[in-house]
Amino acid sequence: MSKTFSMDEVKEHNSQDSAWIVIKGDVYDVTPWLDDHPGGSKILIKNAGKDATDKFMNFHPDNVLKDIAPKYKIGTLAEGSKL
Ligand code: HEM
Repeated sequence: MSKTFSMDEVKEHNSQDSAWIVIKGDVYDVTPWLDDHPGGSKILIKNAGKDATDKFMNFHPDNVLKDIAPKYKIGTLAEGSKL
């Protein structure tokens, strides 16, 4: 069963010690992967605790969300949760 998080909860995970990112309504914990992200750790930390859907879509081909991102998915954003 998938967990549901509010945006307030996501916002607290905004550092290299715990980095959560929202993409298209799903919540990802990229903390274990910061150093291995091909785009670098800095950009992930900068967007940690945020909804980075637009930026993600700009920088990645479609298959990344399907093939790689699921490994880091921890749940979904609560419906109606504000950015
Ligand atoms: C779950 C989250 C993410 C995953 C799984 C992911 C995965 C990847 C992968 C696989 C690549 C290499 C793509 C390629 O070579 O074709 C990449 C590159 C990159 N990513 Fe991410 N990424 C994530 C989040 C983000 C976010 C939130 C940002 C920015 C806000 C970002 C910015 C970039 C940039 C700038 C590159 C380099 C693009 C380039 O060199 O052309 N990524 N990422």
